[in-house]
Amino acid sequence: MNTQPNVFTDVFSEAKLGPVTLRNRIIKAATFEASTPNALVTDDLINYHRLPAAGGVGMTTVAYCAVSPGGRTDGWQIWMRPEAVPGLAKLTETIHAEGAAISAQIGHAGPVANSRTNKAKALAPVRFFNPLSMRFAKKASIEDIRDVTEAHANAARLAIDAGFDAVEVHLGHNYLASSFLSPLINRRTDEFGGSLENRAKVARGVVRAVRDAVDKHGDRKIAVIAKLNMSDGIRGGIPIDESLQTAKWLEEDGGLDAIELTAGSSLVNPMYLFRGGAPVKEFAANFKPPISWGIRMSGNKFFREYPYHEAYLMRDAEKFRAELTMPIILLGGITNRETMDRAMAAGFDFVAMGRALLAEPDLLNRIKAEDEKGSVKSLCTHCNECMPTIYSHTHCVVTGAPDTLVK
Ligand SMILES: Cc1cc2nc3c(=O)[nH]c(=O)nc-3n(C[C@H](O)[C@H](O)[C@H](O)COP(=O)(O)O)c2cc1C
Repeated sequence: MNTQPNVFTDVFSEAKLGPVTLRNRIIKAATFEASTPNALVTDDLINYHRLPAAGGVGMTTVAYCAVSPGGRTDGWQIWMRPEAVPGLAKLTETIHAEGAAISAQIGHAGPVANSRTNKAKALAPVRFFNPLSMRFAKKASIEDIRDVTEAHANAARLAIDAGFDAVEVHLGHNYLASSFLSPLINRRTDEFGGSLENRAKVARGVVRAVRDAVDKHGDRKIAVIAKLNMSDGIRGGIPIDESLQTAKWLEEDGGLDAIELTAGSSLVNPMYLFRGGAPVKEFAANFKPPISWGIRMSGNKFFREYPYHEAYLMRDAEKFRAELTMPIILLGGITNRETMDRAMAAGFDFVAMGRALLAEPDLLNRIKAEDEKGSVKSLCTHCNECMPTIYSHTHCVVTGAPDTLVK
């Protein structure tokens, strides 16, 4: 029996992503860096992305460039404004000099936004309590939705000005657009609630606005990607069949050059995205009482554990592959050559890697040097203790990267 995977495409071969050519099909997934204390680019942020760029990725993704101050998950994140552009331009130049492309993840965190640290109102489809900020998000008015949509277009224009090759619109993890998609969170009775068609209006509207901005702004063309939840893993939340319909509409709308498929909820069920160990104690340690007590007490419910295996989102993503024609970026538990080959053989166009490249930014160069022998294995143990480091300085607790690496 032939046990070799049916490889159609070499993951290290050049690929078109909309108008942009990537040197290979491997994208560093957004992993919030915690290197922007003043909501502006720092040398530390540049180094964080230079390492995987030098390490061989086709494109790295800057997480998370909010479209407005109130759209940040926390007050120390970049939000897209003219003041941020010079630093972002220095960042994109550095990454280009390493031969990689660079994408900006843009979005509005909605009910996940921490209005306390943002010092700005959070928005949600309905008034919504955020237990981490201990504040209520405001029910978004029609005018708020219009403003957020325009803020996405503005963020895309600024990304072009700063030299990015792509923008990745965040439509996942129960952030604003995703919370509108969720039948559990979105209990509105107006034209943005009720039917899936209504609940998908924010997601489709922001992608259309971004596409329009990208098409009309200057001569340099960049790619538009969306990161969409397949399911949030919550009973009554976003089910896969609804998400597939949303993806089909997004494809029909023609605004996207690729779609990246994700899962889980930063509000209710984060481990559904990560799988593996649940770092409850380490997470709680970043908060003061009573929030830390709350996390410790309800931790096992909030951080419900799921077993980890390689390419754990692939089975669900294959349902999307079967129904969509647009390029798809497979994400979730991709750490070695064999899994990348499997993804290519299953018809995915790109793979995105988060934790494995956080642990070892040079992993791809080593995998490539090994060619197809597949003997290079990731040091990521999916303990997920990198997750709570987003409150200090994001790093892998196993290898110490990126801080252990020469700057
Ligand atoms: C420390 C850390 C921070 C993350 N920050 C973001 C983020 O800002 N935006 C986002 O969409 N996903 C974020 N993610 C999720 C990753 O993009 C990715 O979806 C997830 O880690 C699964 O991929 P992996 O198995 O390759 O790690 C983060 C993940 C980690 C580990």
